[in-house]
Amino acid sequence: MQGKRILLIVGGGVAAYKSLEFVRCLKERGASVRAILTKGGAEFVTPLSLSVLTEEKALTDLFDLKDEAEIGHIRLAREADLVVVAPATADLLAKMAHGLADDLATAVLLATDKQVLAVPAMNVRMWEHPATRRNMATLRADGIAFVGPEEGEMACGEYGLGRMAEPEAILAAIERFFGEKPVATSLRARGMPLYGRKVLITSGPTQEPIDPVRYIANRSSGKQGHALARAAAELGAEVTLVSGPVTLPDPEGVKVVRVDTAHEMLAATLAALPADIAICAAAVADWRAADEALQKLKKQPDGSGPSLKLAANPDILATIAKPSENRPRLVVGFAAETENLIENAKGKRLRKGADWIVANDVWPGTGAMGGDRTQVHLITSAGVEDWPPMSKDEMAARLLARAADALSQIRSAAE
Ligand code: C5P
Repeated sequence: MQGKRILLIVGGGVAAYKSLEFVRCLKERGASVRAILTKGGAEFVTPLSLSVLTEEKALTDLFDLKDEAEIGHIRLAREADLVVVAPATADLLAKMAHGLADDLATAVLLATDKQVLAVPAMNVRMWEHPATRRNMATLRADGIAFVGPEEGEMACGEYGLGRMAEPEAILAAIERFFGEKPVATSLRARGMPLYGRKVLITSGPTQEPIDPVRYIANRSSGKQGHALARAAAELGAEVTLVSGPVTLPDPEGVKVVRVDTAHEMLAATLAALPADIAICAAAVADWRAADEALQKLKKQPDGSGPSLKLAANPDILATIAKPSENRPRLVVGFAAETENLIENAKGKRLRKGADWIVANDVWPGTGAMGGDRTQVHLITSAGVEDWPPMSKDEMAARLLARAADALSQIRSAAE
């Protein structure tokens, strides 16, 4: 981070106090920091404290003519190597999503041609509100990167997703952006079972648009796929997580590629190859609307519904499991079934060319879809193993440990 120029935009949330510690960490690593506070931000931390810590005048007002003459918001926007918004409040994210520019912070965000990394922080209900979900989808599509939010106790006394990520997590994301491996992680990773291995994981549902406001999707939460990515990173792997739309925070130390549709997921997955292990845990929509309507479909005066023609989506697991130079040495698929679980899963393993299939019963009574626990059967060429019920985190740790083991055996067999 030595010599990098970070433009920090501080929004108006309780978490703004963390920005002071964050600036200190950035400066310690040799970055130069310029801070802009929104009006709300300046209610929580003073421009003076930020000026002292950054050793640069902290800016607040678009119409401060003197600063405009000296700096200009366009120049400010262009001079940085990276723009970080922390805390990114629901209001600030909404303004960014809609391209509003009514103060210095938002004008800079609209004028910048640099990567923007936003660190959301808000009450859990605000985070879950459909308006925020829409804004996040827009911002992701615009290429904004995110760290957090995290789950936990909030200043308002509620518990849930919405806490601002800690400075270390933001620093790790910045280091990844600048292509620097966090020293602690790389040292810690050496000697771990998956150190030096690349692991690719798909997670979450896909959303297939019907028209600009409607889509086909399913109940996948992404909990299992995200747990697998975390488990792989904890074993020292270099992990790419290709995720459909989920409300989960990005796992730490993992490269996350966000997608919406099955086609986008396939492209992102192929772009992430080569990999040593691929685990397809995403619940990819099997079909998409054959003709996506450009305008919102209207109700018919006679009350009849439109008929929807569906087209098959590409099968990502089958595509990457096909023999090729780029085929990962271990390809694992998931089978979510409501009946004839084992038989269907065995058939799927052969049909799709996967090495292993993790079969789980997703009958509504099991709570596996969207829940925190799961019960699976591991289907390999050697047969079926019944695993006891456990949390998705435990299942992920166990599966990755097995995968690391299998990989070392494949390797020693080849040597
Ligand atoms: O055929 P089915 O959807 O039941 O297969 C489930 C497995 O296949 C999962 O591992 C899932 O991630 C993967 N899959 C895929 N692309 C699809 C459909 C399923 O990768 N289009």
